[in-house]
Amino acid sequence: MKKVIAIDGPSGAGKSTISKAVAKKLGFYYLDTGSLYRAIAYYFLKNFNSVKELSSINEEELKKELVRIHIKYENGSVYLFSENVSELIRDPEVGALTSQLSARRSVREFLLPIQREFAEKYNTVAEGRDMTTVVFPDAWKKFYIDASPEVRAKRRYEQLLGLGKKITFDDALRDVIERDKRDFTRNEAPLVRTHDAFYIDTSRLSIRAVIDLILKKVAEDG
Ligand code: DC
Repeated sequence: MKKVIAIDGPSGAGKSTISKAVAKKLGFYYLDTGSLYRAIAYYFLKNFNSVKELSSINEEELKKELVRIHIKYENGSVYLFSENVSELIRDPEVGALTSQLSARRSVREFLLPIQREFAEKYNTVAEGRDMTTVVFPDAWKKFYIDASPEVRAKRRYEQLLGLGKKITFDDALRDVIERDKRDFTRNEAPLVRTHDAFYIDTSRLSIRAVIDLILKKVAEDG
């Protein structure tokens, strides 16, 4: 394994922007593991008649379906059967299904080697929910990036408004709370703040300040 900077935290804490910038600054590759989970959800949305049908699928059936899937992560983009789906997977409908599918053991097992193989090749900033715990427990550096649910809901609300989506702040807050509940309480690889990860609360910090803090910490420790 090359050098890995593992970054975990709840959705909307700013992990993607921060991880991308840190990777660029250090000349590392950026691995957005959420995009892999999203690509799987996108595949299932396209190939199943309804989310309801999908929620009743058992582990065996899920495994059978997963082996058909070809997924690749390259240059910050995710490919499903060589189609670049990086934009398509940002759809809120895909996001909602991702949250459910990412709780399934077979999905997590399927994506585990893909993530580790990436870090065999490149110095990596890997961002997700189980980077510091399951995927890269021996990472070179570990960070946990947080923000209050209200701050994260406000960011999400503003982002979706900017994209022209109809949403209220209360909808955004409800969404954040529901997603947190699933991420923190699922049996498979729940989001955990470990004591060996350096904790940063971004609620009152600018993105720039968080990036600088991480770079400083990385340089300090060597
Ligand atoms: O980071 P994101 O919002 O793109 O992640 C999408 C979903 O995937 C989210 O519900 C959490 C899940 N996820 C996960 O379970 N494990 C990861 N390593 C990354 C994302």
